[in-house]
Amino acid sequence: PRSLRAHAAAAGLLVGCAVNPRGLDGEPAYSQTVADQMNLLVAENAMKWGPLRPTIDTFDFRPADDIMDFAARHNQQVRGHNLCWHEELPTWFASEVNKGNAKEILIQHIQTVAGRYAGRIQSWDVVNEAILPKDGRPDGLRKSPWLELLGPDYIDIAFHTARMADPHAMLTYNDYGIEKDTPEDTIKRGDVLMLIRRMKARGVPLDAVGIQSHLTAGDPMPGAGLRAFVRECGRLGLQVFVTEMDVNDKKLPAAVEERDQAVAKVYQDYLTMMLAEPNVTAVLTWGVTDKYTWLDGPKFGRADGRPERPLPFDSDYQPTPAFFAERAAL
Ligand code: XIL
Repeated sequence: PRSLRAHAAAAGLLVGCAVNPRGLDGEPAYSQTVADQMNLLVAENAMKWGPLRPTIDTFDFRPADDIMDFAARHNQQVRGHNLCWHEELPTWFASEVNKGNAKEILIQHIQTVAGRYAGRIQSWDVVNEAILPKDGRPDGLRKSPWLELLGPDYIDIAFHTARMADPHAMLTYNDYGIEKDTPEDTIKRGDVLMLIRRMKARGVPLDAVGIQSHLTAGDPMPGAGLRAFVRECGRLGLQVFVTEMDVNDKKLPAAVEERDQAVAKVYQDYLTMMLAEPNVTAVLTWGVTDKYTWLDGPKFGRADGRPERPLPFDSDYQPTPAFFAERAAL
């Protein structure tokens, strides 16, 4: 078996990537690579609040529907991302949503979106990135618009509503910055664990934890702390998904070969560690080709302005060392 999906299937795993409907519909090399290599897709943006809801009472489901159709045609499962997040909210959100209507709007949104795709979603990221220790709260919760509007209850509301809207989807809590053994990641990981333990104790329907895994070559590698966290998730009955892996090469010198080797080593070491845990059942990269990565640009990209090479295929859709490392780890 040569493809990622063939390797994954043989190991009983899901392997996938974030996709954009424009690539799937309009660029043959893109759609071919996604079809050949992946058995699990997630919309990079199309299922987020902003893109889905141009106005408070209209939904634009076309791009998300396109992804669902593509996946069905190619025998692929789909993750939903996401139902509740502090970012990529629609422009009308700040002016139209208030303490009086926020609960109703959140519930109605989840019923509408999760309901539309019910029975066809492998897992939903119900709440994304709710923890931010540096906001200073004892419970570690981020001071997001949802927290300001509804208090900490918004998380339970979102999960209960999602379960009712789609009883077949695994319900996931997804977050970043919990991978490494650094003090910052260790504190955040502890707060995430506290959150999910309390959710389980309250009977909130939570089935899985998503570890985004946006890693940077040259940073300390994830290790014992994350392994212990994954095992603790297992004891709580939770699966763990690597949901958004990519490896930023901005700390590496310009030479492409050197960058590719270092990036591949991170894929190899990280995925080997994670997939040794039986409750880690899915791996997704945040994109498929270096041609389209959210890391390019001033915010996360390289100081020398060169394009990043964080993904398993290069910008000509040729497999990179990261591809072979990922495949070997599956
Ligand atoms: C990113 C997308 O890749 C960008 O195209 C978009 O402009 C911003 O969001 N964590 C997440 C993802 O959960 O939804 C983010 O995706 C990347 C970080």
